[in-house]
Amino acid sequence: MASVPQARAGRVAIGGGDTAPVVSLRGAALSYGERTVWHGLDLDVRPGEFLAVLGPNGSGKTSLVRALLGRQPLSAGTLTVLGRSPREAARHIGYVPQQATLSATAMLRARDLVRFGIDGHRFGPRPRSGAVRRRVDEILEAVGASAYADVPLGLLSGGERQRVRIGQALATDPRILLCDEPLLSLDLNHQRAVTELIDARRHSHGTAVVFVTHEINPVLDLVDRVLYLAPGGHRVGTPEEVLTSASLSQLYGTQVDVVRVHGRVVVVGAPDEPIAPAPPHHPTHEASAAHDRDGVRP
Ligand SMILES: Nc1ncnc2c1ncn2[C@@H]1O[C@H](COP(=O)(O)OP(=O)(O)O)[C@@H](O)[C@H]1O
Ligand SMILES: [Mg+2]
Repeated sequence: MASVPQARAGRVAIGGGDTAPVVSLRGAALSYGERTVWHGLDLDVRPGEFLAVLGPNGSGKTSLVRALLGRQPLSAGTLTVLGRSPREAARHIGYVPQQATLSATAMLRARDLVRFGIDGHRFGPRPRSGAVRRRVDEILEAVGASAYADVPLGLLSGGERQRVRIGQALATDPRILLCDEPLLSLDLNHQRAVTELIDARRHSHGTAVVFVTHEINPVLDLVDRVLYLAPGGHRVGTPEEVLTSASLSQLYGTQVDVVRVHGRVVVVGAPDEPIAPAPPHHPTHEASAAHDRDGVRP
């Protein structure tokens, strides 16, 4: 089908193959007991690349993130991160987790969380060098969180907290940034702010971004390639290659229509998670394509 190339203002030119991949998967499979979540995955992620990981609930997006972090072993194939095992590379990865549980951190301040990013979770007496303090201030400034640096996280809005989490991830000076649904529960303005922060980092430092998202549209202009995970298989390619009716129909094994409306991608007919109302925190004006289907409402 004819697909209109999107404007790619933020796109980073990836060189002619002379840059070593920061993530390399070959014949990779991941299973929990008998259940194989994905298999036969071959993927190289280059420095500075923005890879969006898409797919319905349960398709193994978070499992992929856990594998990249060295927290979940593959059941087949190989995975190297920065040329090493994922565990050895873990300190070079910045991680913005899906729905971080707040209970443990509600009393901490933004400043504390960012400092943990720099010096790790050390709860004992710790040196508070001026250099560390200055670096924390710089990061808080960079993510626009200076104004609430000393407010307990439990009192911040979802968007404010997400800025702080990105600050924490950037504080490790990562070569790879893994973000698991970082836009969930954010309104449009905060979605834009968060994606701009992440995009700025890859431009300034060549940090590769692996960005798990249920909703491609907020990042469509930034994305170099998409990894689409589906129950029937997966596909890697540019958004124009992957987000087509033909490709998604094949992945889902049923007729799926991809239409582009005012530069947005809308997927119609993709069987997703069990039919249920969209989560209440999901911004309805950016409703996931997966929710754009009939029969959701009683
Ligand atoms: N620790 C685990 N043990 C067993 N099954 C798991 C575990 N973690 C995830 N799963 C299952 O693996 C599948 C993929 O989960 P997940 O990677 O969280 O998907 P996604 O992030 O795409 O929603 C789901 O069916 C989930 O129930
Ligand atoms: Mg997930």
